[in-house]
Amino acid sequence: MSSMKPMGGSGRRVSARTLREFGDLALGYVDLGREALFGASPDYDTVSWESVLRDLESRGDGVAEILDELALRDLEEATRQILRYVHQENPRGAQWPADSILARCCYLLCRLVRPAIVVETGVAYGVSSAFVLQALEENGRGVLHSVDPPPLRRGYARSWGVAVPEELKARWTLHRGTSKRILPGLLEKLGTVDVFLHDSLHTHRNMRREFEAVWPCLRTGGVLIADDVERNRAFGGLRELNQSLWRVVRDREARPLHGNAAPVTFGVVVK
Ligand SMILES: C[S@@+](CC[C@H](N)C(=O)[O-])C[C@H]1O[C@@H](n2cnc3c(N)ncnc32)[C@H](O)[C@@H]1O
Repeated sequence: MSSMKPMGGSGRRVSARTLREFGDLALGYVDLGREALFGASPDYDTVSWESVLRDLESRGDGVAEILDELALRDLEEATRQILRYVHQENPRGAQWPADSILARCCYLLCRLVRPAIVVETGVAYGVSSAFVLQALEENGRGVLHSVDPPPLRRGYARSWGVAVPEELKARWTLHRGTSKRILPGLLEKLGTVDVFLHDSLHTHRNMRREFEAVWPCLRTGGVLIADDVERNRAFGGLRELNQSLWRVVRDREARPLHGNAAPVTFGVVVK
């Protein structure tokens, strides 16, 4: 572990890394604000989650069986309990975790693709990480590399990745920092990626930078999943590339992992 001390409070030292992370996050929030005011919204054709399941089934995969797996249902129940507890501590954190459909999508696609290497950006409580890791465990192979700058406010660090069960952590490496800083070096080291999940900072600049970095490393038949693609036009750029499936899912949760059933939007591309 690092020698980093928490920010704030008299007599506490602030490390250079903490300052850099604070600066990176602050710049990200400036971008978010700027794009909220001046950014262009996309006008994507959207499909239901059921429709994407039919797309995948038509490729000859055992979609229904995977979605009925006990490991998935157990993880969903365990996640609901953890998030209930986490949100009692921090009700404002309810905006962070992956929704129930995105979580299922991560599990399903990792079961179908049987990846050796999965990379994700954006960890927070670790809901998407847990669903990817559970799928890797069921596959009996594969590792997950997650990229996230740690929460800066004191106390939040306790819940960073808390939804990931201890027994799944052997396949998990958490890289501390923004995707801008971490992804280029990580991808160079990994060479090939089988599944990529974007769930970090949803600005056009950041999403496009992540997609451009990952796409050349994504193997043919590999999958890119991106949450909240309706925020800007970055995901639309992937439609222009050489892909075999490009979909924007817009649907409403049936059995949420936390809070009330909400509308959800995310994108899926198969290279
Ligand atoms: C929506 S939450 C991720 C939710 C998570 N995937 C889950 O299912 O629980 C967004 C996360 O992105 C992280 N983040 C923000 N800016 C980032 C950046 N530039 N690079 C990587 N991660 C970033 C935040 O620290 C936060 O943990």
